Amino acid sequence: MSTISNKQAASFPVRRMDYEFDEMPKYWCDDEPSLTHFFTGLSTLFPEGESYFVRSVRALRSGAKDNPELDRDIGAFIGQEAMHSKEHQAFHVSAQRYGLDPESLERATGIVLKTIENLFPKKWNLLVTVGLEHYTAVLVETMMRSTHTQMRDETVRNLWLWHSIEETEHKAVAFDLYQHLYGQGLGAYLPRVTIFTFSLALITMMSTVYHVVLMKRDKQLFNFATWKRFASFAGQHYKTFIPQFMAYYRYNFHPDDVDISEVVAQAKQLIGLAPEDTKAH
Ligand SMILES: [Fe+2]
Ligand SMILES: [Fe+2]
Repeated sequence: MSTISNKQAASFPVRRMDYEFDEMPKYWCDDEPSLTHFFTGLSTLFPEGESYFVRSVRALRSGAKDNPELDRDIGAFIGQEAMHSKEHQAFHVSAQRYGLDPESLERATGIVLKTIENLFPKKWNLLVTVGLEHYTAVLVETMMRSTHTQMRDETVRNLWLWHSIEETEHKAVAFDLYQHLYGQGLGAYLPRVTIFTFSLALITMMSTVYHVVLMKRDKQLFNFATWKRFASFAGQHYKTFIPQFMAYYRYNFHPDDVDISEVVAQAKQLIGLAPEDTKAH
């Protein structure tokens, strides 16, 4: 008889972090209001967004009890996302000092996601998570490849790199749970791509609104020079994002189709994580 041990490690670790953002300058991304507020706006989606991801996975986790490896990775996924929420909240507390009130945007995110959670069945809530995990996996690749070099404050840069590394480590967990529960047929594919389209539109709309709100709060709404800088940044990156988002519509798509382990290894080196740091501890 084989023995299944839950004491085995997950395939990636949950790291305890405790960043301090006391020295954070006002415009920590490229000295540009538009770039800084874009990332702050994105960040305000994380605490409530990641807590929603955790609830959506937890609601269906019992269906993975017959797959101990997947169940262990779900545990590590929950641990990583909870830690991301905590550290981004600490980051928002520091941004508060510049009069940006990111916590009000966190609360708005919470209201939107609670409404969706109550309206959608569990399968669809899981699919929002699966879709947004792909969206995140695409964005963090660029963060690790290039965007981090524009982050002037080392602590803020480390926060984004650490988060990017872990998003890559757990990018397949929600997807694997979905396939484990619902298979790979047309009945799994159609809702997967439909909810992804909805999720992509939702996150694009919310991050755009938050970006504008933060620019307004900082009295930079009519700073056309900085908007121009952002337009060039966005234009350059969306050229690579769009085909990567589209990959999700392939019938046989799997998050692990893309291997960026070399990029992750470089990012780990930059923030002082050991390259072999891949098992839970
Ligand atoms: Fe996260
Ligand atoms: Fe994630």
